[in-house]
Amino acid sequence: MPGTRFTDIRRFATIDSTNRYLLGEARAGTPEGAVAVADYQSAGRGRLGRHWEAPPGTNLLVSVLLRPQVTVADRHLVPTAVALAAVEAIRGFGATGVGIKWPNDLVAPDGRKLAGVLAESDLGAGSDALAAAVVVGIGINANWPTDADDLPPELTGLAVSLRQLIGRPVDLDALLDAFLLALEPRVEDLTTATGRRALVEELTSTCDTLGTRVRVELPDGTLEGDAVGITPEGHLAVRTPNGDRTVVAGDVIHLRPGS
Ligand code: BTN
Repeated sequence: MPGTRFTDIRRFATIDSTNRYLLGEARAGTPEGAVAVADYQSAGRGRLGRHWEAPPGTNLLVSVLLRPQVTVADRHLVPTAVALAAVEAIRGFGATGVGIKWPNDLVAPDGRKLAGVLAESDLGAGSDALAAAVVVGIGINANWPTDADDLPPELTGLAVSLRQLIGRPVDLDALLDAFLLALEPRVEDLTTATGRRALVEELTSTCDTLGTRVRVELPDGTLEGDAVGITPEGHLAVRTPNGDRTVVAGDVIHLRPGS
């Protein structure tokens, strides 16, 4: 994409996972900015070890290789930057009301999932955090059939595609271009305190989780309460009967009022 760091775009008809591919490239020394796009992934990866399935040619399946100069404490903002860029790109296609379910799922106004983001890195004990690569992948549901009968029943009511939201087919190349253009300034934002504050402010104004009752699945149990804010670090503040809690990472479920 001219004018951005994303000039090395690698396209695959079929691959196991664009995230897995770029992590391998990162280890081999490929510079920041490499992009992998696939029509189909045979072993697409989702969060929490889940599989990410999509029929061939219907979704935007893309990963970017970044080497962000951020400390470990700020690295969770890397997938935030990707989610925010995707929201801007999707709004540019005419979808209104698309927001973020904290930390970085894209959801339609009715809560159905439109896109998911997965960040992976090799950051292990002893590695140099500031030099480490992060691969961030996003799968945007784009051109699902409009006939609900053609959708896998397990997705009905839970997920939606951009085509369904805007009522016309989506040009996947144009969506990729819009996403990479929107991502460039946000990756730049990661490198300064002012930029990171701007990302957190944008997350706050885009986050559908705020004001809803949530259940948060944490590694050591479950938390239920009202999502009342995003902290200056980008974490989720939840008001529970036992006091306010700050959630740094976790799987969030939006609960309907009274449930
Ligand atoms: C989620 O569980 O919500 C995250 C899904 C991320 C899927 C994308 S598709 C492109 C990239 N390659 C992968 O294997 N996963 C991510």
